Amino acid sequence: MQIIKKCLFPAAGYGTRFLPATKATPKEMLPVLTKPLIQYGVEEAIEAGLSTMAIVTGRGKRAIEDHFDISYELEHQIKDTPKEHYLREIREVIDKCTFSYTRQIHMKGLGHAILCGETLIGNEPFAVVLADDLCDNTCEESGVLSQMVKLYEKHQCSIVAIEEIPKELTNKYGVIAGNEIEPGLFEITDMVEKPDPQDAPSNLAIIGRYILTPDIFDIIRVTEPGKGGEIQITDALRTQAKAGKVLAYKFKGKRFDCGSVEGFVEATNYFYEKEYK
Ligand code: G1P
Repeated sequence: MQIIKKCLFPAAGYGTRFLPATKATPKEMLPVLTKPLIQYGVEEAIEAGLSTMAIVTGRGKRAIEDHFDISYELEHQIKDTPKEHYLREIREVIDKCTFSYTRQIHMKGLGHAILCGETLIGNEPFAVVLADDLCDNTCEESGVLSQMVKLYEKHQCSIVAIEEIPKELTNKYGVIAGNEIEPGLFEITDMVEKPDPQDAPSNLAIIGRYILTPDIFDIIRVTEPGKGGEIQITDALRTQAKAGKVLAYKFKGKRFDCGSVEGFVEATNYFYEKEYK
């Protein structure tokens, strides 16, 4: 069995919902408290045992690369001062994994962004994290990716994380239909990108955590543009599910939609309560 070592972060999107903040700052660098969104995702991947972070960036995203690098000037300035501990967490992240980058030149959708990452991933199964879905584990459980990697070891197929949402919100998510084979684990029979509530096959929405087997790249290559004229990973996964097996996993833990202002504020309040009180 091939073990999962790499995690892909599609991070080329414009973050228009956070303009003007995202005009010159990548949305993945917006902080929840003192930590940028993407660092939460990288820490979740490290906790799941992954050590190569493959980041698909775009124009105006250089701050991400600088963040996961040493800042000699800063380190020199605060060395042996009481402020040194502020950099401890990010230094640990940098020491534990390697980062590789490629650019998505044209914005043609999430499926296309994942395909751009093929050069960094190669022919092995990998995880995908959408950094604006910020997840936190409950005390008794490990992180979402960690739960999914364990499931992969058992089933060795693509897996998407899902949660129940109010039916009126289905047009914001990929939505699955499937047969529950174990409590909380579904074998997918169909999936639709952002269906209107009346067309949605269920209220089980995909959140930004995926484990993908590498045959997905060939499938994406022949996937036609779908919702919004973009190449959708949901459509590629539907093809994969029809030809074989794709699982949907109702993860344990909390998830915040930090792609929206409401979710961002909710996450900020949650982590403030958790870490500062
Ligand atoms: C993407 C996917 C969608 C998924 C969502 C999770 O949409 O296309 O299937 O449910 O992420 O956050 P986006 O939020 O990028 O529009």
